[in-house]
Amino acid sequence: MTAGNHPVARGQSQRVADRVHRIDPPATVEWFDLDYPTIIGLRKQLLPPHQHYTLIGSTVTDLTWLDRIPRGRPVLMIAEGLVPYLTETAVRRLLTRVVDTFPAGQIQIDTASVWAWRTSKWDPTLRKYGTQFHCGFRDPAALADWHPRLEYVDEAPMSDSPVLMDKAPANVRRMYRLMNLLPGMKRSMRLVRFRFQPSAGEHRVNGREPDSA
Ligand SMILES: C[S@@+](CC[C@H](N)C(=O)[O-])C[C@H]1O[C@@H](n2cnc3c(N)ncnc32)[C@H](O)[C@@H]1O
Repeated sequence: MTAGNHPVARGQSQRVADRVHRIDPPATVEWFDLDYPTIIGLRKQLLPPHQHYTLIGSTVTDLTWLDRIPRGRPVLMIAEGLVPYLTETAVRRLLTRVVDTFPAGQIQIDTASVWAWRTSKWDPTLRKYGTQFHCGFRDPAALADWHPRLEYVDEAPMSDSPVLMDKAPANVRRMYRLMNLLPGMKRSMRLVRFRFQPSAGEHRVNGREPDSA
């Protein structure tokens, strides 16, 4: 994430977006955090400013926020705990627009399985916050079919993540251990990576391949 000359557009983080302060990326990285305007208002009150860091208060589904991100450079888009709350149509519009807007990049999202989506209305934690999931995917790799330049890279069960296991509260760790005993449950929340690159024609320099230019 910190390497290179990449703008970083990302969704939300459980650590209330203090990640930019923890990572402290070099000045070559332009970092953007996006959430609803009320949440961004709170973050502005709670967190100090940081160089090359912009907070965007907008729903992610109003894609005009993308106009704030510099074009012509690769991006890394991280959406944490966001995709399951969007409809599949909104996720598709978001991913395809990001690929259409930037020359190259990586997209990291977490997805719920169809089962987790369908049963989310009974999830006690989601009920407590008056919300539920609005999409789920049997095979997240198939999202790459949405755009010819989008490529699936890999995925991992969220409940198997050593980092999450290390940092999650005891009750969540217990739940993850239980989920990992059953393959269907283990695949219910997955961290998924995609990448996109310029199409073959865009690699050409004055009509020639770069190595012959
Ligand atoms: C479950 S929290 C996720 C927080 C954290 N990233 C995580 O992984 O747990 C969902 C976050 O997504 C934000 N969110 C949900 N729908 C959104 C939308 N349409 N546009 C922007 N932010 C949204 C919420 O405000 C909240 O900060």
